[in-house]
Amino acid sequence: MNVDFYEKIWMWGASGLLALFLATILFTAATQAVQPPGRLETVDPTKLLADPEFSKPGVTLRPDGSALVVVVAEDYDFSPDPIEVPANRPVTFRMTSADVLHGFQVIGTNANAMAVPGYVTEFTISFKPGTYAIGCNEYCGVMHHNMVGKLVATEAK
Ligand code: CUA
Repeated sequence: MNVDFYEKIWMWGASGLLALFLATILFTAATQAVQPPGRLETVDPTKLLADPEFSKPGVTLRPDGSALVVVVAEDYDFSPDPIEVPANRPVTFRMTSADVLHGFQVIGTNANAMAVPGYVTEFTISFKPGTYAIGCNEYCGVMHHNMVGKLVATEAK
């Protein structure tokens, strides 16, 4: 079979790119802790009221000034609401859903995650002082558009 020289160049180029992308994934996974969502933490969405953590959604201040926020999303609100956190400090969210898939987006920030029934979503972020709206950005039912919350970040005194 005769493969044209220019065709060979494109084949080698495409193969090289594939190898480069694969190497990039392996490199970031091995050295920069970039992980696919396989390290899953599960929770029974039908037993959240009995769960030691998710039966009490709320904000806990840690001795180092950071905060832990346990959030439960449920048609059609977020608990707690409002979420009051210290500004300019690491805030770790741990959230889940009691019913269906919900979004959790703190408008104007990089806090944007999904609350998935059965799974625990965790991320850490910090906020500038201010009041932020929280929106659900996954369609979750007829009142999805009304599923909003509030986050208040205040400067620690
Ligand atoms: Cu919850 Cu849309």
